[in-house]
This record gives sequence, C-alpha cells and structure tokens, in this order.
Amino acid sequence: MDKMVIQSGHQLNGQVKVSGAKNSALKLMFASLLADGKHTFHNVPELADVESARNLLASLGCNSEFQKNTLVINSKTNSQKADYDLVRKMRASILCLGPLLSKTGDAVVSLPGGCAIGTRPIDLHLEGMKAMGAEIELKEGYVHAHAKKLKGCSFLFEKVTVGGTENMMMAATLAEGTTILENAAKEPEISDLANYLIKMGAKISGHGTSVIKIEGVNQLKPAEHTVCPDRIEAGTLLIAGAITGGEVTATHIDSSYLEAFIAKLREAGFTVDTEKNSITVRKLKSWKAVDITTAPHPLFPTDLQAQFMALMTLAHGTSVISETVFENRFMHVTELMRLGADITPKTHVAVVRGIPDKGLTGAPVMATDLRASASLVLAGLVAKGETTVNRIYHLDRGYEKMEDKLSSLGAKIGRV
Ligand code: EPZ
Repeated sequence: MDKMVIQSGHQLNGQVKVSGAKNSALKLMFASLLADGKHTFHNVPELADVESARNLLASLGCNSEFQKNTLVINSKTNSQKADYDLVRKMRASILCLGPLLSKTGDAVVSLPGGCAIGTRPIDLHLEGMKAMGAEIELKEGYVHAHAKKLKGCSFLFEKVTVGGTENMMMAATLAEGTTILENAAKEPEISDLANYLIKMGAKISGHGTSVIKIEGVNQLKPAEHTVCPDRIEAGTLLIAGAITGGEVTATHIDSSYLEAFIAKLREAGFTVDTEKNSITVRKLKSWKAVDITTAPHPLFPTDLQAQFMALMTLAHGTSVISETVFENRFMHVTELMRLGADITPKTHVAVVRGIPDKGLTGAPVMATDLRASASLVLAGLVAKGETTVNRIYHLDRGYEKMEDKLSSLGAKIGRV
C-alpha cells in the first residue's frame, strides 16, 4: 500500500495549475446516462474516483475512452443495475439513480452505506424521486425505483444536499412538466452540471440560487463540456503555501468559488490577491487563530475544514472549528495530535490551540478519508523531520498528481 513520505523545512513558492473538479466531473459522467451517443468532457482529473465512475458506467453499457484529461463516453444504456461492488467504492454512484430512472423508467442501485465521515443517508434523494411519482422499494440492500414517466413537482429539500439536488435536477430534465426545487444546493458544481444539461437541451433556470426550475423535455442529446476548476484542490494548495510561509499562486481557478475561504485566510492575517483566474497567498511568518463554521456554499466548505485545521495548529491563539455539514468529520484530529497539535475535539466542534513556537513534529500517521489525508500532508510539510502518511489511496481518489504539484512548488515529498 502506498505511503507518502514528507520531509519538512521547505518553503513552497510558485504557480500551480488547478485541475478539473472531481465533484463536478463525476456528476457530468452520470449525466451522460440521459442521452445515448458520444459525450465529450475536457479537463477531467485523472483520479481513482473517475475510474470507479467509468467502471460503473461500463457496467451499465456506457464505455469510455480517457486520454490527457479528455473523457469520451459512448452512452448506450443496456442495464439499469448499479452493483454493490461498484457503488461501495464510491458514494457518488448514487447519482446514477436519477438519470437511469428518468431515461429508462427503472433503476436498481445499491444503497451506498455509511462512510468515514458519517452515516450519510440518501433519504432526500428517494423522497425527491417519490415526489416525482416514482415507486421506490428498498430490497436486499438495493433501491428499486420505477416510474413509467416521472412527473414534474415542487420539492422543498428539508436540508441542503448537493447530491440530492443534482439527482433531482437530472431526473427532472426528462420528466413531464415543470419541477421546482427549493432550498437547493448552490455549489459551483451544481451550476457546472446545469450548464452541461442545458447544452444537452434541458431547460433549467435558477441554478446557483436556492430555487431551481426545470421544465421537462422529451429528449436530450449528447454534448461537449469543460469541467469547472476544483475549488477544494485550489484551497488545499493555497494552504500549502500559507503553512510553509511561502507565496503560492493557484491558477485556472475562479476566486468567486472560494470567497468564504479567502475571507478566513485574510482574517488570519494573510494577504490574498485575486485575479480573474488566479488566487495568490502572500508570504507571512506568523498568523492568528480564527474560528470557522462549515456550511453549504457560499459559506465555508466542509471539504476544506481539515486542511484549515492543519493551518490553525500553528496559529497564534485558539481557533474554534465547528463542523455542521457532516456528523463525523474530525477523524484527522487524533492524527494531527500525533504530530503534536494541541486540539480538543468534541462532537461537532474542535478547539485548536495554536503552537507556533513549539511547532509540530514528524511522525507516522494514518489517512482516514480524502480531506483528512490532505490535512496530514499539509501538516507534514512543516512538522519537524519526517512524516509518513499511510493509506494514501484516499488522496488518490480526489487529488490529481498531488505530490507532483507540491514538489513543483518546492516540497520534498515522495511516494513509497
Ligand atoms: C457532496 O457530497 C460532495 N461529494 C462532498 O465531497 C461534500 O463534502 C458534500 O457534497 C458537501 O459539500 C460529491 O460531490 C461527490 P450532501 P454529498 O448531500 O452530495 C445529509 C469530498 O471530500 N443528507 O450535500 O453526499 C448528509 O448526510 C466529499 O470530496 C441527508 O441527511 O453531500 C450530510 O450531512 C466528501 N439526506 C448533508 O446532508 C440525504 O438524502 C450534506 O450532504 C442527503 C444528504
């Protein structure tokens, strides 16, 4: 099993290109189930999760070719069953439910089960499909969904859900009549998906706001699209610059995707310059603790909480970090403590007392999920001596060529 070995003491400086967003690419891939034919996506990151989605699509009859970040999917659905073995590898697989059901009238999708960051139910996805007239049955670990023709409806999400909004939005494109989604998620990846669906012929308005309107059409056609930039990767790379006291520019990223995150970096004392397509964090020797509370976009993203916590372990003062999106997203805390961080974790809140003078010390640590792995790599860049991050496959699910990017900025990092 691969490990990442990091030697500390190297300041990170320079420019680094942000890849396409994993959390958009996966949904775009599932959108291809809505129309037979050739779908072309550019700027698709080379990630284990993209491979998992390709395998799932292949099992449904949609083969693909992937070269130099361009993915061509030849959609020709001939099965409606998303098997447990494929779904358990990647929770986002549940996003094939809406498109399959809407296009073919049937879908049998394995229940994804829990994961390292919480139980993560899919009740809102299922309620949404039922509101559109689908019959849903849970049998032997699978969701069995059937609807001769989905019907447009008004649906108020009880809680903001990214995946639930995306599943409903895709299902509604081919439904009869108009669907209104209220309290919808507003993440940039939702708009990226909506923009692709619109290219395919869907009638969608209001994406990027909390009310999305979808007027059903009879048929969609394949199209071509460039995946939006990965705001979470950009944030992670900027923290890599910040935590090492260096100056890093993330390019190919729209700074409006990261307003809440940038505001917190500035509050901590960093100078952050934004251009149309880049963000630069300037050199700073010491920074102050700030509190963060994660929440749906446009507020502070849960997917940057662990990485921001790594930065806070070396801040002057005490930071209170509240996680409101997921129930169990502090798995990195005990690993950061192995590096010497002073943190008191409670259920949804972690109190981080910065130790800028003492600093962190390298140690072997264990990655537990994707963003937790990233936070350990960031801490490893500054923890005196050597840090080994085990179970690095979590990182490969969501960060494209992470060690190459960090090395290009001056990090001493390698895979064994
Ligand atoms: C997406 O997950 C992302 N994954 C996550 O990224 C991200 O952390 C999350 O959105 C929040 O921004 C992908 O896009 C593939 P949710 P998703 O539905 O859609 C609860 C990463 O590291 N909920 O918005 O699964 C749920 O349990 C990852 O890249 C229900 O209760 O997230 C959670 O507490 C991890 N019932 C909250 O809502 C439902 O039916 C938000 O989840 C659905 C969700």
